[in-house]
Amino acid sequence: MSDPFQLDLTQRPRRLRRTASLRALVEETVLRPQNFIAPLFVVEGRGAPEAIASMPGVFRYNVADLVKECRALAKLGVPAVALFPKLESRLKNEEGTAALDEDSLILRTVRAVKKAVPEITVVADIALDPYTNHGHDGVLTPARDDVANDRTVGILVKMAVLHARAGVDLVAPSDMMDGRVGAIRRTLDSAGFTSTGIMAYSVKFASAYYGPFRDAVGSAKAAGTHLLGKQTYQLNPANRREAMIELALDDAEGADILMVKPAGPYLDIIREVRNATSKPVAAYQVSGEYAQLHAAAKLGWLDLARTRHESLLAIKRAGADMILTYFAKDMARILA
Ligand code: PBG
Repeated sequence: MSDPFQLDLTQRPRRLRRTASLRALVEETVLRPQNFIAPLFVVEGRGAPEAIASMPGVFRYNVADLVKECRALAKLGVPAVALFPKLESRLKNEEGTAALDEDSLILRTVRAVKKAVPEITVVADIALDPYTNHGHDGVLTPARDDVANDRTVGILVKMAVLHARAGVDLVAPSDMMDGRVGAIRRTLDSAGFTSTGIMAYSVKFASAYYGPFRDAVGSAKAAGTHLLGKQTYQLNPANRREAMIELALDDAEGADILMVKPAGPYLDIIREVRNATSKPVAAYQVSGEYAQLHAAAKLGWLDLARTRHESLLAIKRAGADMILTYFAKDMARILA
């Protein structure tokens, strides 16, 4: 006599979840240290690492300490770093002219990293926000009510050549100006940098999750008390079809790697991007995504290690080949 409660089921998906070894056998997505790109912040001088209040465990390093950090990351199997400078406010101005200084902090940092740790891939942002006193990614129109597209692109292409000359492997235009990927590709090629790649911030939303980053590079403070609105160039978080237009443009203009940013709140976009291109897809788990897990963990409301892992697994499962994340070093340590 069979159990009176036994259902007449052919399919019982729980069979494959019964033991740890069965679960391992059917696991579909695996995180590896080589999936991660570590964003790092650099400052001038020889001071101790500066803590960033809204990003626990993230520091602004001087050049020498940043090089050490790159060496440690390479040893842990993290293949790439994305470098961001924080400038002293006296170097910032309306036009962001320090971006074209041939001996700027970021260019000296790139050269130092490529010299000491040549095997690590160096990515650097191409945008003016660390350099402008208003915190925008480009220069303003005469009416000062918007960012001037074509004039900004004209500056960014020069910035890209300086970065290529300093030795970056990938320039990462993060500005969202129209036509910048194509213009950067053409300018790099005609300057002889045919091997310097472009990791394009193709699908970048006007997100509130960038708040802690803007503290880290000082672009929010540069903007004074005003909330820095970038809606005239970054995408409306409500728009999926428009995101796909941006993707198609950067793909056609010659981007080598296409990025979606932020990552966690935009998993549907990552999946759609994955299905629309055969090129590698990057996703940026941004500062606010990092900060919210830390904040909840500090209150004892979430388990940091487990939510960190799950958040990154979800981004990879959605279709990202590589993830920019402030958790890169922690994850590489754990996965080693
Ligand atoms: C700026 C830039 C931003 C980030 C990377 N590059 C912020 C912005 O657009 O204001 C955000 C990264 C993060 O929040 O972690 N071009």
